[in-house]
Amino acid sequence: MKHLLAPSLLAADFTRLYEAVDLVENSEADWYHLDVMDGVFVPNISFGMAIIKQLRSISKKPFDVHLMIVEPEKYITQFREAGADVITVHYEACPHIHRTLAQIRETGAQAGVAINPGTPVSALEDVLDEADLVLLMSVNPGFGGQKFIYNTLKKIEQVKERIITRNLPAKIEIDGGVGLQNAEAILKAGADVLVAGSSVFKAENPKEAITRLKEIGKGSLLV
Ligand code: DX5
Ligand code: ZN
Repeated sequence: MKHLLAPSLLAADFTRLYEAVDLVENSEADWYHLDVMDGVFVPNISFGMAIIKQLRSISKKPFDVHLMIVEPEKYITQFREAGADVITVHYEACPHIHRTLAQIRETGAQAGVAINPGTPVSALEDVLDEADLVLLMSVNPGFGGQKFIYNTLKKIEQVKERIITRNLPAKIEIDGGVGLQNAEAILKAGADVLVAGSSVFKAENPKEAITRLKEIGKGSLLV
């Protein structure tokens, strides 16, 4: 399968959000990655459903909403109503992760489960069936522009093996420090979706960065 690319608006210039949306809409990018941070689960605060709802009205591509918040189960309906197509919650933030994933699917959204760099893949064992997406954090969540943690490659392989063995449909998404320098290795390890913040919006030519990140793997043995 050809990989998907989800530019993260966290790295965009917030005074020129319309231009960022225009760029993504008119590019080969597949999804918008929207990082919601509450200052409790992670040491940073970003934006919430009001902004997502407004962005929805000026964009057509799917919204991949990454909730880095405590008690996400309280807000799932609101994020769905704001326009989220994929809603990802953190394993570490959900004492009843199985129930929360089911709750996301009940809204009609795709359900994603995320794990931090310090959480082993084995934590996902009993919820893989409930997930449409597994998000492996390749930096500690909270900030854009951090360095990719290479141990993630091993974790991608571990999740991929479980997904194939159990014949599950879940996609693997990698988030944090992804760019042209490591995208090929990440895809080779088995990733399906690449999140790219700084490597797109801080690039000299963001449109070209998207094109190149989508081209990776073409013509190689990756399918
Ligand atoms: C980090 C966020 C990421 C972030 C990625 O907590 O979840 O989605 O925006 O940014 P880059 O690509 O710059 O690492
Ligand atoms: Zn994210």
